[in-house]
Order: sequence, then C-alpha cells, then structure tokens
Amino acid sequence: MRQFPAIGGMRSVEEFRARVEELRLEIPCDEYVEAAPESPLAKPLHVAGKTIGNRFCIHPMEGWDGTRDGKPTDATIRRWRNFGLSGAKLIWGGEAVAVRHDGRANPNQLLINEDNKRSLSQLREELLAHHQQACGSTDELIVGLQLTHSGRFSRPNEKLRPEPHLLYHPPLLDRRVNANGNSPLLTDDDIRRIIDDFITAARIANDLGFDFIDVKHCHGYLGHEFLSAHTRAGDYGGSFENRTRFLREVTEGVRSLAPNMLIGVRLSAFDLIAFHSETTNGKTGPGIAEHTDLPYHWGFGVDVNDPQRYDLSEPRRFLTLLRDLGIHLVNISGGSPYYNPHIQRPALYPPSDGYQPPEDPLVGVARQMEVTRALKEQFPELILVGTGYSYLQEYLPNVAQAAVDQGWVDSIGLGRMVLSYPELPFDVLSGRGLQHKRICRTFSDCTTAPRKGLPSGCYPLDEFYRKSEDGAELKALKSAARAQTS
Ligand SMILES: Cc1cc2nc3c(=O)[nH]c(=O)nc-3n(C[C@H](O)[C@H](O)[C@H](O)COP(=O)(O)O)c2cc1C
Ligand code: SF4
Repeated sequence: MRQFPAIGGMRSVEEFRARVEELRLEIPCDEYVEAAPESPLAKPLHVAGKTIGNRFCIHPMEGWDGTRDGKPTDATIRRWRNFGLSGAKLIWGGEAVAVRHDGRANPNQLLINEDNKRSLSQLREELLAHHQQACGSTDELIVGLQLTHSGRFSRPNEKLRPEPHLLYHPPLLDRRVNANGNSPLLTDDDIRRIIDDFITAARIANDLGFDFIDVKHCHGYLGHEFLSAHTRAGDYGGSFENRTRFLREVTEGVRSLAPNMLIGVRLSAFDLIAFHSETTNGKTGPGIAEHTDLPYHWGFGVDVNDPQRYDLSEPRRFLTLLRDLGIHLVNISGGSPYYNPHIQRPALYPPSDGYQPPEDPLVGVARQMEVTRALKEQFPELILVGTGYSYLQEYLPNVAQAAVDQGWVDSIGLGRMVLSYPELPFDVLSGRGLQHKRICRTFSDCTTAPRKGLPSGCYPLDEFYRKSEDGAELKALKSAARAQTS
C-alpha cells in the first residue's frame, strides 16, 4: 500500500514547501501569517451593496441530526453556533436543507417548509448571537441557506435505502443506487414542481432574514446532475441551454417572489470518472478509476476522451451564464463524496465506504486550487470561494493567505476543519496562532458515521461526539469491521 507523508509530521513551512515541490504542484505558501488588520485574510469583499468582513467562509456542513420532520435538534443548533463563533464573515448556507421530503439525502436532513419555519429561524439567530459574542458585532456578516434536492442520492425514509430521483441513466452511477436503464426518470412536469419548491423555499428563507440562498449544483445531487444530462430528452436535457434551464427558472421565480434575495451557487466545477477499490486479504486498496467506453458522456467538467482529467470549457460557459444572470457568489467545489471522494474532500484516511488515497491528498488540494485560480482569472468580477483547504492542516493559514494575496481565490472555505476546530479563523485573524490538538487530521469519521446511520461530527477530536452514545457505537462498529477483516 502506498503511504503518503502526513502533514502533521512536517516540522516547518520549508518541509511543507519541499513536499509540494517534490510532487511538482503549485500551492502558494507564505512563510509568516499576518494578523488583522494587515492580513490579506482580513480584507473585506463587496457584493451587491453588502460587505463581507473577511476572507474566511464556512462551507455548508450537514450533520444528519435533524428530526424526522426536518427540524433542527440541539446538535444542529450547536453546529450553527460554532459557525458563528468561528469569526468567518461568510456563512455559505449552513448546511444542505431539502426543499421537499422525497429529495432529502437522509431521514434526518433539515426540511424547509412553513411548519419548520420557526425552528429554522432559530439556527440563524443562534449563529448571529454567538458571532456577536465572539466578535463583538455582526456587522459585515453574510449568512446564506443552502437549498437542495438530493436527486439520485435521495434517501428520505431509511438511512441506508436509496430512493433515487433520476434525470438520466449514467451506467456507472445507476448501479451505485440500485437503479438500472429501466428505472423511471423524473418527468419534465416533476421537474417543474421541484422548481416551484425551490422558489417557495427561497421565499421562506427570505422571510427568515437569510442574506442569500445557494441553489446547490454540486456533489452529484439534482442541480449538479442537470449539468451532465447530455443524454436526456425534453426541456431539461441535451443542449447547454436545456441543461441550465433548471437554474434559470429557479432564478427567475426567486427574483419575482423575493426580489431582494441574493442568489449564490455552489458548483462542482470539475469532475472525474467514478472510482472504486478492490479488497485484498481484507484490506481496502487504493481508489481505481472505473473502466468506461469513450467518449464519456456522463459528466460535467470532465474530459470526454480521458475522464481521469477535467475539462473547464463547459464550467466556463456556466460561470458566464451566472454572471449574465447577476449571480456573483460562487462556491467552487468538485466531484462527489459518493463516487470520487478523494477529489471532493482530500483525506489521508478514507471513510468506511471509500478507498485508500490513490494520490497524495495534496494533489487533490492543488487540483481544487488550480481550477479555482483558472476560473478566477477569467471571472474577476465574481466572488469565488475555494474548497479543499482542510487537508492543509498546520499550513492552512499560510496557504490561505498566499492564495488570497495572489488573487487565486476571494474567500477560503472551511469544511471539516470547522467541525474539529471552529475558531480557527478567529485564532488566525487575532494572531494567536493555532491550537494544534484541534486541527482536523482527515480521519474521515465525520463521513463514516453517517454511512453507518449515525449523526455526523468530529468523533476523534470533539468531546461532544467522542463521549456520546453515538461515539461508543461508532467505535464498536469500527472495531467489529476491523475484526472481520483481520
Ligand atoms: C460531514 C460533512 C458534511 C457535509 N455537508 C455538506 C453540505 O451539506 N453541503 C455541501 O455543499 N457540502 C457538504 N460537505 C462538503 C464540504 O462542504 C466541503 O466541500 C468538503 O468537506 C471539502 O472541504 P474541506 O477540505 O474544508 O473539508 C460536507 C462534508 C462533510 C465532511
Ligand atoms: S472526523 Fe474530525 S478529524 Fe476526522 S475528518 Fe472529520 S473533522 Fe476531520
């Protein structure tokens, strides 16, 4: 099995830079990290008359911990409080919130509707209150809500039972959700009803005081699947115009019901083919790209002649469309946690349903950074949030500062790091330095737990989860799995 050097074992910026050079990657990394107000990470951004007070963004991070009817629980509220305490001035959506029950990714996903309005409002209020407490003011804080339909990855009723809503039949992905070429597809009328649900959800988010909604187009969920629906017939498949009709109709509807609501889009701006692993002597091997006939017609941002490479021609067209629609907030991600997790969330340790890293996870970080940089170069007027930084660990602040300073990206998105160490942005900007024991080491338990039907959270580093009943259950499940394979 290939072993890659752990970031936590590197002793200095020089050692980190040497590894980056050895891998022939481009990852900018400053020697020293400045505190506010001089820090490039403390510089404000401006969008549609609003100011975002610094360059840290909290990515949407779902917890699989809502009630069965889609309301937040204490654990959900605690996570949103932590988002507020982080000191980041851009909160990208909190977490994926389903616009209808059958589009939930799990039976505990939050659901936005009139019944749940009051309890969803509490999430934003608690976030604001805790931000006020940590930072002394909620000025220049922008809070969005991520709206989703999980499409092919819907599991609304049973944690482990797929109930996919399909737009077309990509053979490699159909079999992952127990579907096949005969499984029914969403009709154009079904799609129109889903669009109405997004518009209603946006109106409710507007009533609740959210600054923007994210019309989620990433990670294999419905919005993302539209973009690759080349082989679908009808109004929502085939041509680029048809594949983006969903976005345009949602945007038009939101603007008519809630004209002041800002719209953002989280986008898987590139993709690769699906990966799988082989198990030898009970050990999961490194990820292997699935075999496919060429050309490969089932991706967005994928090279059709070599689907292990990305191709930004259509994503560039998509960003042009966003700009023309007046959508200036774009969060760049890639791939999907379901079929190529190593590109979506680079990690040294795979989740239970994953595979050993097929490349040094730094390659995954560099890929996300290079895509965002290329898009930023072409679209300077858009505000681009970057993804994949958690794997950088001790060097996250050095790389983040350099990337913002050199104009590769506008805002540094934090995903897993905010589960283990929410106050990282605050510590960086105040010049206190990092609390090393709280740094996310990409153990992937926050992904493994939901794969086993448990709520997500940082089980290794956050006592709230480590000491809980769920923590004991996860430990038992993991050791049972180890015993089976040894
Ligand atoms: C437990 C968990 C929950 C997530 N939930 C969401 C979500 O609700 N919406 C979303 O767009 N991305 C979600 N993501 C992806 C993250 O926002 C982020 O893109 C990913 O973790 C990579 O960033 P990082 O390297 O900072 O972790 C989730 C990731 C994890 C690990
Ligand atoms: S479980 Fe904790 S340490 Fe592991 S990847 Fe998730 S946030 Fe990081």
